[in-house]
Amino acid sequence: MPIDKNELRRVMGHFATGVTVITTLSKEGKMHGLTANAVSSLSLVPPLLIICVDKKAESYASFEESKVFTVNILADDQEDISRRFAVSGGEKFEGVAYRRGANGAPILHGVLAHLECKLYATFDGGDHAIYLGEIEEAETREVKPLLFFRGGYRAMGD
Ligand SMILES: Cc1cc2nc3c(=O)[nH]c(=O)nc-3n(C[C@H](O)[C@H](O)[C@H](O)COP(=O)(O)O)c2cc1C
Repeated sequence: MPIDKNELRRVMGHFATGVTVITTLSKEGKMHGLTANAVSSLSLVPPLLIICVDKKAESYASFEESKVFTVNILADDQEDISRRFAVSGGEKFEGVAYRRGANGAPILHGVLAHLECKLYATFDGGDHAIYLGEIEEAETREVKPLLFFRGGYRAMGD
């Protein structure tokens, strides 16, 4: 029998991760963003990463419409940003400092790193879509990461 979904969420919560906000655009050019930790590096040549997006997310359609996205890796003082982008819909960018990257998707101010991607491939992942992004631009800053572990936000050293 497959594992119960709440138990699966609890167990997978033991895999400590960073926290990102992935931004993209709708076909009308509206900005979307969602908090995500199902993110992984994949390939160096070509430079690829993986993200997984819930098919029920409001931003879901936009990934395939715009075929671009940007992974913003959050710094340890950006828990409020993570919480904001983890609530579905609404005007998430209101009051948030950002600039547009070369691909048009927002780069949030103050992030630890960002990676601008163009959509490389899409796969079915059950109730999520698996997107491979080809990384076109990336940049880091000397700040500490926001972490997520056992269902809660952590800072390095906690
Ligand atoms: C720490 C954390 C990690 C998350 N990781 C993901 C993820 O990898 N993929 C995903 O689709 N949703 C993830 N979510 C949930 C989305 O952020 C949430 O469903 C959001 O409301 C979707 O926004 P939207 O409906 O406006 O697109 C995560 C939430 C949190 C708090």
